[in-house]
Amino acid sequence: MNPRTVTDRVSLLGVIDWDRTIFDSLIPLPQGTSYNSYLLKGSEKIVLLDTVEPGKAYILLNQLSNIDHIDYIVSHHAEQDHSGTLPQVLERYPMATVLTSDKAKPMLLDLLQLPEDRIHVVKDGDTISLGDRTLKFYYTPWVHWPETMVSYLVEEKILFSCDFFGAHLATSNMFADVDPLVLESNKLYYSQIMMPLANFVKKNLDVVETLDIDMICPSHGPIYNKPRFVLDAYWQWVTGLPKNLVVIPYITMHHSTLHMVERLTAALGNLGVTVKPFNLETADTGQIALSLVDAATVILASPTLLGGPHPSMANIIAIAALLKPKAPFLGFIGSYGWANTTVRRVESMVEPLGKEWLPPVTHKGLPNEDTYAALDRLAETIAEKHKSIGLAG
Ligand code: FEO
Repeated sequence: MNPRTVTDRVSLLGVIDWDRTIFDSLIPLPQGTSYNSYLLKGSEKIVLLDTVEPGKAYILLNQLSNIDHIDYIVSHHAEQDHSGTLPQVLERYPMATVLTSDKAKPMLLDLLQLPEDRIHVVKDGDTISLGDRTLKFYYTPWVHWPETMVSYLVEEKILFSCDFFGAHLATSNMFADVDPLVLESNKLYYSQIMMPLANFVKKNLDVVETLDIDMICPSHGPIYNKPRFVLDAYWQWVTGLPKNLVVIPYITMHHSTLHMVERLTAALGNLGVTVKPFNLETADTGQIALSLVDAATVILASPTLLGGPHPSMANIIAIAALLKPKAPFLGFIGSYGWANTTVRRVESMVEPLGKEWLPPVTHKGLPNEDTYAALDRLAETIAEKHKSIGLAG
């Protein structure tokens, strides 16, 4: 990618990584990603905001080939995808100083072994003058690590948000406009990176809303030239009611649990409740995470294996515990061969999530009419619970 003009003072640099398929060996990237870096030219000072994945350093250095002087490099976040090329940029520009938060400085020293005298800590609310432009820093911890901050170009009303509002999306479009595909990628990113930290995200949204913003320039995905598009979506995901939606991650060995899932799904559908079942044998964990942004109820469905849930279910419970979805209701259904021990195990595994535990439904072997009736009653309970929190029936 060649440098692209955002405004007459701001250029978009960085890398569109079309081929990356996973992040942190954990997060699937079905649409690739980008590592955005921005070059900001004031009348007296030049600033580079964030860098790129170290494996892509050559691309950023090539984009900077006509730039013979950089005064500051802002490091909003110490993670490798944004700070990993700092050593090479500092080597190219021996006059440059890294500006970062107090918590990021020791991280940059630990992770990249940068020379300490090349790093200057900026405090929350500090400004630097670039001549005819001013950059102001705001500490926004935990979007995504504890050290994260954002910066605001005062005269142009541009927020540089790094991971905050990012989207793992490789696209040749520089601006998001109001593209629903961008929003879907952004929501997927939110579900896996920001949702576990929703309390902090809300505090940082409050900070951002104090600013007059014409444009949000994140370090992943396209630029938000209509910032309310992403701000309003974030408010809904963080503080809005969940939807009238039940997510059912399930696994089945001899189809007894599958029959139970099918009956519950049909009964909920008859009551006007939307259902998303995910077969854990094939389901994409990213899509499960995405659905958990909106779900009001999660029903775990698993047969018993050696006295506990199937390992695929244990894995999804561990993921849910990390993601901290806002669904207030949680339940369990499943079959067993000889010992009805899984409910107790699952209940103790999900207790830290702090959800309202719905009456479980279990059955020995192939479900019969009594069990199907119990599943119908569970569906009615769920529909009533949803109405009780204001969701349409
Ligand atoms: Fe895009 Fe937390 O790094």
